[in-house]
Amino acid sequence: MAIANYIMPGMKADEVLIKIHEQDPKILKILLTAQADIEAVGNAVNAANLYRYIAKPWDGTDLILTLREALRSYKRDRELEKQHKILQQLNASLEQQVEERTAKLKQEIADRQEAERKLQDLNEELMRSNEDLEQFAYVISHDLQQPLQSIIGFGQILMLHYQEILDAEGKDSLSTLVNSGHQMRQMIRDLLTYSRVGTEGKTLVPTDCNRVLEKVLANLHGAITQNHANLISADLPTVMGNETQLLQLFQNLIDNALKFSRPTFSPTITISVKPEGEQWCFSIQDNGIGIKPENFHRIFGIFQRLETETEYPGTGIGLASCKKIVQRHGGRIWVESELGVGTVFYFTLAKV
Ligand SMILES: Nc1ncnc2c1ncn2[C@@H]1O[C@H](COP(=O)(O)OP(=O)(O)OP(=O)(O)O)[C@@H](O)[C@H]1O
Ligand SMILES: [Mg+2]
Repeated sequence: MAIANYIMPGMKADEVLIKIHEQDPKILKILLTAQADIEAVGNAVNAANLYRYIAKPWDGTDLILTLREALRSYKRDRELEKQHKILQQLNASLEQQVEERTAKLKQEIADRQEAERKLQDLNEELMRSNEDLEQFAYVISHDLQQPLQSIIGFGQILMLHYQEILDAEGKDSLSTLVNSGHQMRQMIRDLLTYSRVGTEGKTLVPTDCNRVLEKVLANLHGAITQNHANLISADLPTVMGNETQLLQLFQNLIDNALKFSRPTFSPTITISVKPEGEQWCFSIQDNGIGIKPENFHRIFGIFQRLETETEYPGTGIGLASCKKIVQRHGGRIWVESELGVGTVFYFTLAKV
């Protein structure tokens, strides 16, 4: 704080206060004056940013009060300055934190986008190589049919024309050859059907599952009556699908339910459905021989059959086709089963 008397030996108080102000504007300046030169006082008030000017004669109490007030005001200003500085620092640190966090988020987004792009590339590559494999399987199985047909055909001719000159072992070998040929022909046909799932029926349209089931039941009429099977079905919804493939799906599952029944039990097959978000969840339940939990995954593989191989006919491609069909329809397929009690196959299909 600087207090200057207007008249001082050799100098003028207004000029001194202005100089002090120029050196440190924060210093509080008070001017005491007896003969107020209005212009000089006004100049000092403006140029030195005078806190106050006090005219003589002054009252001692008033001066003390003024000084106290001046000190208080000075302290308040410094305190405010300090708080302002802290606030500025906080702001700066906050801004820095926001900047750092934004940069980190940007990096995370870029990383994620890069990972997604890589995944998409991989998916596309996988789809391409799957399509190549399907095409390969299709061509091979298609081209194998002709030479195989010749083997079966010539085997049958040999059996027919050379029966008399063949001994029992010869006949037996020839019969095994023809039977194996038939078995192989069935496998090739199944493989062709399986590879067609990927290449045909790509567009999905609203398909009434009741109509699909009707056709399946007509196709399996013989097996149903022969097995004295009891079929119970809920009213089924219309889904987005390909009719031929959905027919294959229902037929494979119902055919299995009929085939893998327990010898002393007439099969009871229950077809139910319930909504599950954007999809319908279907279930086909039987009271047949059941499946061990360790085989739940395996049975969906191509040409995978369980220990029942010799007792029940089939090549083991039905469930692999079902899985492929359901996946191509954007759904899931899974199984729950208890050995000696029965099996439930579940699959989901998109709502219309
Ligand atoms: N409902 C079922 N109950 C018991 N076991 C089943 C049932 N469905 C399938 N399985 C088991 O899963 C295996 C694979 O079934 P999948 O339908 O693929 O082949 P498959 O019926 O033997 O032959 P394909 O269907 O090619 O004629 C079957 O061999 C059988 O062991
Ligand atoms: Mg089957």
